[in-house]
Parts: sequence; C-alpha cells; structure tokens
Amino acid sequence: MTEVIRTSRLLDAVVALSADLSLPNVLKRVVEAAAAVSGARYAALGVLAQDQPDLKRGLVEFVTHGIDSRGIRAIGHLPQGLGILGLLITDPKPRRIADIGAHPAYAGFPAHHPPMTSFLGVPVMVRDQVFGNLYLTEKQGAAEFSQSDEDMVVALAGAAGVAIENARLHQRLEQVAVLAERERIARDLHDTVIQRLFATGMGLQSLVGRMEESDLRVRLQQAVDELDETIREIRITIFDLEARDAEKDGLRTRVLSLTGEATATLGFAPKVHMDGPLEAATDAATQEELLKTLREALSNVVRHANASSVEVLLRAASGTITLRVADNGVGLPKDARHGHGLDNMQTRAESLGGVCEVSARRGGGTIVTWRVPASP
Ligand SMILES: Nc1ncnc2c1ncn2[C@@H]1O[C@H](COP(=O)(O)OP(=O)(O)OP(=O)(O)O)[C@@H](O)[C@H]1O
Ligand SMILES: [Mg+2]
Repeated sequence: MTEVIRTSRLLDAVVALSADLSLPNVLKRVVEAAAAVSGARYAALGVLAQDQPDLKRGLVEFVTHGIDSRGIRAIGHLPQGLGILGLLITDPKPRRIADIGAHPAYAGFPAHHPPMTSFLGVPVMVRDQVFGNLYLTEKQGAAEFSQSDEDMVVALAGAAGVAIENARLHQRLEQVAVLAERERIARDLHDTVIQRLFATGMGLQSLVGRMEESDLRVRLQQAVDELDETIREIRITIFDLEARDAEKDGLRTRVLSLTGEATATLGFAPKVHMDGPLEAATDAATQEELLKTLREALSNVVRHANASSVEVLLRAASGTITLRVADNGVGLPKDARHGHGLDNMQTRAESLGGVCEVSARRGGGTIVTWRVPASP
C-alpha cells in the first residue's frame, strides 16, 4: 500500500469518525480504520472500566475486527487485559513487538485463539484519561509493524479520542432531561469537542502546503472542509439545546433570545425589526410554529448561506403575521436538494392557513417569507 493511499484512508477515517454520533459505531469504525491503515490482519479496541481510575479492573469491552463471531465464541471469553495487553494498561504508550510469544510479558493464548506473532499497541486517550487501547496483530506483507504504521495509528487514535468524547456527550444528551445538565453538556461540546476538532483541522491544514502529491493535497483540503462542516453541525446542536428553555416568555422576548443565541453560530448578530400588536395577534400555536420556522431559517443560514448579515422582520398588520428572514449569502443553489427544513416551514404555514415562499434576494442571498393569518 502506498503512503498516498494510506494517508488518504487515514483522512477518510478521521472525517467519518468525527461525524458519527453513535458510540458503538465510532468504536467499530476506529477498529476497522486501524486495521486498514496499519495493514494488520486482526484489530481490537479494548475499553477500560471508566469508573476505575487505577485501571485495576482491566477491560470491560473488546471490539474486534478480523475474527468472526464463531471464532470469538470458540475462545469463550473476552481478554481480561493480562500479558501483552496488560502492558499497555499499566504503561499507556505506543508499543511494537516483533514476536509476541518471545516477549517476557507473554502469558499465553487461550485455546482456539488464532496464532499471532507481530503486535502494535496504541492507547486511546479521551481528554487526559486512557479510554482504552488499540491492539493490532499480524502485519500483512511484512514480518512486523513499522514506525510509519505506528505513526498512522497514533494519528488515528488522536482523532478517535475526540470522536468518542463527541459521541459520549451526545449519548448523555439524549438521556438527561435536567436543564442544568444540558447546559453543562452544551458547554462541553463547545469548549472541548469543537476546539479539538478545530485543532485537528488546523493540523491537517498545515500539512496541505507541505504535501508533494497534488491528489493528496486535494483530499486533505476536503477532509478539512468536512471537519468544518461537522463543527457547524455541533454548533447547531448547541444552539437547539439552548433554545429549548425559553418557553415561558412572550413572543418578542423569545424571538430576541433565539436571534441572540444564533449570533454565536452565525458569527454576527441578526438585525431584528418587530412591529404591530404581535402578542395580541398570535395564539400559542401560531407562536410555536413561527419560532420553529425562525429557528430553521436561521439554521439554514448558518449551514448553507455563508452570509455576513441576516435581517429578521416580524410584523403584525392587516390581520396577517409576516415573518421574513433575509440573508446576503450565496443564494439557493439551482438544483437545491430538498431537505426537511423548507418543507416543514411550508407545512407549518399551511396548517395555520398561510403560505411560505423562498426567493432569491436582489443583490445576492435568500429570502424566506412566511405569512399566516392573525389569530382571532
Ligand atoms: N439561506 C440559504 N442560503 C443558501 N441555500 C439555502 C438556504 N436555505 C436553504 N438552502 C438550500 O436549500 C436546501 C434545502 O434546505 P432544507 O432546509 O429544506 O434542507 P437542509 O437544510 O439541507 O436539511 P434539513 O432537513 O436538516 O433542514 C439546502 O440543502 C440548501 O442547499
Ligand atoms: Mg435546513
């Protein structure tokens, strides 16, 4: 396998990992990618007990690649983290061994275990804690793993740590209903996951200039762009989280708090104009639909528009409530793929007897106009 293909696989894995929010999927992907970039026949990720800082309890989970379920059943039990595996648990650092059987720490394989000779082990850190270890065995096409195999897997393990933390935070998010806890998770996503993804992106970006291969440069740049997209999506999650707790206030306050929160994700403050008897002319259902529409319109601006300004107009006049969100971004693409967002806005308007139009703004950008009858 050439360095180009290997590096390209590594980049694919880093990007796919960062975008996956399911922890079991992330672990599976890490193991598969580790095997692919190192050229190992067998790969495994041993997860350590998280509530045992002294690491004495060994491995609580073992995600494998290269051995089928029949093979796993034949061995009968998961490894406990003794012998060679234990080396990395007690002293977490990358380690290469040419012949497992000849190593002083070798404690023997259980019956029905496939023969394994060459070994490469790399710890996976999440924040400052050892989450687990990647174990690769049976280097294909060579007698043992090389320094460059080790470098690849170390790079992958770095990205895996960020992805695992991201997936864990999202998992926690689904479980908790308590507001304070949600706020804490939103902060963690923002302060750690985003910052570290950003740092990974910067690291890749700095490589672009140094790459000789132009194919690889293009691929690297795509990887950086895709990481940026993931960062934007996490920001949207945070924005949605923060937007959930404002339901007691009036419409004006809720519109302002929504646009205020969007400021962080947009990078600038939307301009907001409100006029007419808004509170009196909207019932609770209209307000809900309107706010959801506004949130989706702003999230579309964040995700698709690349705008430097947004104007939000909300008006109650002549028996009609009008919400208009105008950005000065790139405009709707000609072949705009229909997601759910624009359709939902339309359905929300129709359910209230109104209409929703999306049009090009003169001078560039997009205008969403959402009109519904005032509530009696
Ligand atoms: N403000 C905007 N500026 C530029 N393009 C936009 C804007 N809003 C929407 N689009 C384009 O229209 C498409 C459809 O938007 P829509 O909200 O329906 O789906 P989506 O945002 O892609 O996905 P989702 O279902 O998560 O909302 C987008 O993919 C994007 O290409
Ligand atoms: Mg959308």
